[in-house]
Amino acid sequence: MRRWARRGGRCEAARRAAPAMLLPGVRSAARRLGRDLPLACRGCSRGAGGKGLVLGIYSSEKDGAAALLTSAGDAFDRLVSGRLRELVSICGPPLKKGKTRIFHGLHQDFPSVVVVGLGKKNAGVNDQENWNEGKENIRAAVAVGCRQIQDLEIPCVEVDPCGDAQAAAEGAVLGLHEYSELKRKKKPVVTPQLHGSAENEAWQKGVLYAQGQNLARYLMEAPANYITPIKFAEHIEQKLRSFSNVKVHIRPESWIATQQMGAFLSVAKGSAEPPIFLEIHYSGGANTSERPLVLVGKGVTFDSGGISLKPSSGMDAMRADMGGAAAVCSAIVTAAALNLPLNIIGLAPLCENMPSGKANKPGDVVRAKNGKTIQVDNTDAEGRLLLADALCYAHSFNARAIVNAATLTGAMDVALGSAAAGVFTNSSWLWNHLYEASIVTGDRVWRMPLFEHYTKQVTDCPLADLSNIGKYSRAGGACTAAAFLKEFVTASHWAHLDIAGVMSNKDEVPYLRKGMAGRPTRTLVEFAARLSQDSHNTT
Ligand code: BES
Ligand code: ZN
Ligand code: ZN
Repeated sequence: MRRWARRGGRCEAARRAAPAMLLPGVRSAARRLGRDLPLACRGCSRGAGGKGLVLGIYSSEKDGAAALLTSAGDAFDRLVSGRLRELVSICGPPLKKGKTRIFHGLHQDFPSVVVVGLGKKNAGVNDQENWNEGKENIRAAVAVGCRQIQDLEIPCVEVDPCGDAQAAAEGAVLGLHEYSELKRKKKPVVTPQLHGSAENEAWQKGVLYAQGQNLARYLMEAPANYITPIKFAEHIEQKLRSFSNVKVHIRPESWIATQQMGAFLSVAKGSAEPPIFLEIHYSGGANTSERPLVLVGKGVTFDSGGISLKPSSGMDAMRADMGGAAAVCSAIVTAAALNLPLNIIGLAPLCENMPSGKANKPGDVVRAKNGKTIQVDNTDAEGRLLLADALCYAHSFNARAIVNAATLTGAMDVALGSAAAGVFTNSSWLWNHLYEASIVTGDRVWRMPLFEHYTKQVTDCPLADLSNIGKYSRAGGACTAAAFLKEFVTASHWAHLDIAGVMSNKDEVPYLRKGMAGRPTRTLVEFAARLSQDSHNTT
């Protein structure tokens, strides 16, 4: 028996709503099998009450070998008396990773079934790629499958757990997300559900991880006139309102002034929009006196560059310059939803960086909370000014570890692009936890240097203790920025994540649509989850 149709190698039987387009080869093969062809989609999926179904399929190990359905696929195949397997084999060549075929009318509960290629079975951690390839394949495949169901305007989709329900849920929830709040024409809402009930806990966990990242994506994507510092803080406060073990403090400008956060204030004063210092206390630990993990995020809700104005082309993307604050706050919302057993404090200095008569001028000298003076040689290097003060403040909590995230430098994007966030850390213990977490989530990190070499380039400054830019201009720009931050750190477990390169997605991450990426929220959540299991003494 010919396994798939000759011409074009494409499954015409599976073409949505196009029964007349069946290839003769497929039609006759189906007849020889004594089977009815699947019912064509005669509007059955539109508002008919049925659900979509996404099923995974592995690449066959040998040429010409039978398709390798997942266990959910196998079960569904038995339910439809082997018709799924037969159709898959006659409809075309083996489905490659991420490629789909749609079958209509196989089962009355599922008017449309999308079968999607998962790549090879038993794919695990890939040591070259530093991620779990099996999980990444599932996320990508499920995202594609769910979007096909969305294109068919079916409001509900059941998803094959594909052997890893958490990854499948992440693929579904991340893959379907789109920021369409301000458009009249929106994509239809599709609710993904687990197909079967065996892995419900893992599925729910995946939904929460993905919703966390989607929250960060939402905050980053929203225009800067919608997500101002106060609106950002109120949005996060609202997300945390239902948790009795969370306290949110929205600190106004007067509080920031009494804290002597002169570096942060110097940036904020250029804007008409007042700054906010957002402080979140999540007490998930057995004891409120347990040392917390402190997360700090850069929260520049719009970065025009200030007097050192950025070029106008692409400046709109700087509405996402609060991506660090979005990732850490969303990670805390997710940690609370997961009820992680640890204490976390979140700190987000929020303001705009604007040019005005009150703005920082190149050459101005400002004083940070720890008394160090900073010459503002470039007003566009503002993120480190906010973080300098926030990091000083972070030291008042006797933290187990301090981790900050910031869309800090264009140089980070030049160095790694969107493959991974750069991690600058003084602690190999902390690095190992972040790295292990990122292998699982697929939202990768890569270690970068904190050499004295770079410190010298920011401490050699004419008027102040530090300059806010390296003296050799752009060379090693991500490293000189990290060296600058290090001047405000005395804790022995600190990591700075420069997330400028992973801020947005074009098409590099297949399970995220184009737009602001919300990375690395899931890695921060996974890291916190791992930390909560680690009894290692970090004093
Ligand atoms: N927010 C930017 C960095 C950035 C660039 C984030 C591209 C995301 C995408 C930051 O405030 C900035 O402008 N940094 C300057 C520093 C320079 C003046 C030393 C930069 O990277 O050009
Ligand atoms: Zn800037
Ligand atoms: Zn910035």
